[in-house]
Amino acid sequence: MRLHIVKCIICLASIKCISAAGPFFLQLNTTEHVIGNDLLNITIGPTYATKLFYKNKDLIVNAQGHYLSYRSFLNWTSARIYSQTDDSLDVVFEAPEGDFHWVIYHDLAGAYQYFVNKALPVLGEFRSLVRLDNTTFFNGNTTSKEGPLPTLAEIASGTKVQDETWQLPNGTYISEYDWADFIRDQEYYGVYGNEFGSWYIYPGKDEYNGDHLKQELLVHRKSRTGDVVLLNVLHRTYFMASSNDCFEVGKTWGPWLWYLNNGSTEDASNRAKQENQNWPYTLFNSSAYQSRGSVFGTLNIPDGRVAANAAVFLGDNNPNETTLDMGRFNYYTTYADSTGYFRFDNMRTGVYAIQAWSNGPPIGDLSATYLQNNIQVNRNESTDLSSQDFVTSARTVVRKIGDFDRKALGFRYGGAPREHALVEKCPANLTFVVGVSKVENRYSAQSSVGSWTVSFNLTASEVPKNSSAVLSVSLAGYSGGTSDVSVNERVVGMLGGSSILADPSLYRSATTAGEWHYFEFGVGDGTLQAGKNEATFKVMKSSRLGGFMWDALMLEWSGYP
Ligand SMILES: *[C@@H]1O[C@H](CO)[C@@H](O)[C@H](O)[C@H]1NC(C)=O
Ligand SMILES: *[C@@H]1O[C@H](CO)[C@@H](O)[C@H](O)[C@H]1NC(C)=O
Ligand SMILES: *[C@@H]1O[C@H](CO)[C@@H](O)[C@H](O)[C@H]1NC(C)=O
Ligand SMILES: *[C@@H]1O[C@H](CO)[C@@H](O)[C@H](O)[C@H]1NC(C)=O
Ligand SMILES: *[C@@H]1O[C@H](CO)[C@@H](O)[C@H](O)[C@H]1NC(C)=O
Ligand SMILES: *[C@@H]1O[C@H](CO)[C@@H](O)[C@H](O)[C@H]1NC(C)=O
Ligand SMILES: *[C@@H]1O[C@H](CO)[C@@H](O)[C@H](O)[C@H]1NC(C)=O
Ligand SMILES: *[C@@H]1O[C@H](CO)[C@@H](O)[C@H](O)[C@H]1NC(C)=O
Ligand SMILES: *[C@@H]1O[C@H](CO)[C@@H](O)[C@H](O)[C@H]1NC(C)=O
Ligand SMILES: *[C@@H]1O[C@H](CO)[C@@H](O)[C@H](O)[C@H]1NC(C)=O
Ligand SMILES: *[C@@H]1O[C@H](CO)[C@@H](O)[C@H](O)[C@H]1NC(C)=O
Ligand SMILES: *[C@@H]1O[C@H](CO)[C@@H](O)[C@H](O)[C@H]1NC(C)=O
Repeated sequence: MRLHIVKCIICLASIKCISAAGPFFLQLNTTEHVIGNDLLNITIGPTYATKLFYKNKDLIVNAQGHYLSYRSFLNWTSARIYSQTDDSLDVVFEAPEGDFHWVIYHDLAGAYQYFVNKALPVLGEFRSLVRLDNTTFFNGNTTSKEGPLPTLAEIASGTKVQDETWQLPNGTYISEYDWADFIRDQEYYGVYGNEFGSWYIYPGKDEYNGDHLKQELLVHRKSRTGDVVLLNVLHRTYFMASSNDCFEVGKTWGPWLWYLNNGSTEDASNRAKQENQNWPYTLFNSSAYQSRGSVFGTLNIPDGRVAANAAVFLGDNNPNETTLDMGRFNYYTTYADSTGYFRFDNMRTGVYAIQAWSNGPPIGDLSATYLQNNIQVNRNESTDLSSQDFVTSARTVVRKIGDFDRKALGFRYGGAPREHALVEKCPANLTFVVGVSKVENRYSAQSSVGSWTVSFNLTASEVPKNSSAVLSVSLAGYSGGTSDVSVNERVVGMLGGSSILADPSLYRSATTAGEWHYFEFGVGDGTLQAGKNEATFKVMKSSRLGGFMWDALMLEWSGYP
């Protein structure tokens, strides 16, 4: 049975109806179906979709093909046409966990795809992906990395040092994690060769878990088979300490576009711009999806400044998880402008909490997080939060290293291209003299057992009568280990250990962030004195590529005035 849309075309003088091979759905037997159009077609089996024909060429050949998986593979128990319009077909493949839809247009090389949850278990990782022929596809392009994927031959020349990571004879590393990136920064990403490209374009990204700093693997070379892999990880775990979520029945991811082209990154970029303009998609008529509103406002700091460039996040109301950990519902991220003004458009209606924090200069000394619950977003309405103030301690800064932005930027290797074991280049022992040591000797992460000391002088007039202070430590990531924190040899606290969950950032090539942690340690009156002072971080316990990734350190007088 071959179902397709009959199109009428006008041929010269006569009007005749032909059945152009527009979008079609063909059942081969109970477990094999073909969907496609004039431009492409793909054969969908019980688990994998293979034989992806585009311009008469099979783009999968012996690779694994297209599938969805979590701890297990989704197996399709039935397939049918869900809906159709004049120029599109929505074909649904049903699995016990949920329904996967392919929306095929007559003139589009690719398909819009979406997944509707029925019974996904509590999970961290859930993904849609395609594993492609490696002679047709061999380059990757993401927002921050471009070029050939490592070949199996290169991988084979190395020694495996950890999961999907190899050390080559010349000492350098190849790691699949080098191809991870910040997911909300991707307008499009994909793999391509000389004649073909395969891309994911996911405007909106409402359903992705996490905040501005959620990172994930996007493309890679499968080391076991040599396949070139393009991933759309719908719910993600990489670089996070905790990510398991339980989903409502009906929770929908997408639609996003799986787009095929001639391998032009520029064309993929243009297509992404077009998709962004068309989002939210009218092709998806779910009333929950179409029901959207806006939120806007201005953020201020009580000292009179505006929260320029602040990171602003809309997520779970009355949150019981960090912004990175959240993942059950819908999430929106933006940044305030230079006047502290922010605006979210096309948000799904509902009740949210808004959170905001410094994203670095010009408010890099702001350690506080703004939180406001019960933000109601109504259909076709704009919620005006007008002018909102951060709640701050109003303490006086004594010294500060780095800017609060939940990122290791401003430290050596912070924000460097992703590279395995970069943290091993950070010394075990280090003294950093504020105002004297060069900024490049301020390393982004402390991993080995040893001591890092921050040394600074205070003048007598700088030290108040009550010299009690607060030492704030903001970590951009934490991959295990413990460290004693002391000021002038008096222990003021401890970092790490069982009090916080470790994330895999440092051993998975991350250089900017993992999970953010913030601590304040009290420094007793009389501890800080005129003359030389030292704050010391003494790593007592660590593991290879474990440790602490810095965001910022700040000392403030707390008894003042
Ligand atoms: C359906 O067709 C495919 C391809 O020809 C074949 O491998 C498969 O065994 C068939 N399945 C059934 C249930 O007949
Ligand atoms: C899929 O495309 C290939 C190559 O263009 C073609 O040979 C094949 O007949 C198409 N399959 C269907 C079911 O239309
Ligand atoms: C899907 O089928 C494969 C084998 O055919 C099986 O290993 C896998 O567990 C199935 N997935 C689920 C979720 O049951
Ligand atoms: C969406 O489209 C389908 C198929 O055309 C139709 O059955 C359904 O009622 C529509 N839903 C809404 C909310 O318009
Ligand atoms: C990816 O491709 C686009 C479009 O050609 C290009 O502008 C961008 O620089 C590429 N990405 C990187 C990290 O080079
Ligand atoms: C492509 O995959 C094949 C296995 O199918 C493998 O032998 C080959 O080395 C891979 N090519 C590259 C460039 O990795
Ligand atoms: C190390 O070897 C790899 C694989 O041959 C090569 O691509 C890379 O440029 C080399 N790096 C250095 C620093 O020699
Ligand atoms: C690929 O497609 C784009 C957009 O259609 C076109 O501008 C470009 O010339 C094509 N490139 C090649 C190599 O065919
Ligand atoms: C937060 O609350 C939700 C809903 O009760 C629950 O499912 C989730 O496990 C909680 N998260 C944590 C980290 O406790
Ligand atoms: C909301 O706006 C959209 C388009 O802007 C319109 O189609 C829809 O009818 C409006 N809905 C309501 C409830 O006003
Ligand atoms: C770090 O300093 C300690 C104490 O002085 C010393 O025992 C240790 O060997 C040093 N580590 C390295 C790698 O130099
Ligand atoms: C701090 O003061 C000591 C003397 O107490 C002096 O030797 C040192 O050079 C000063 N350091 C800086 C950075 O000013």
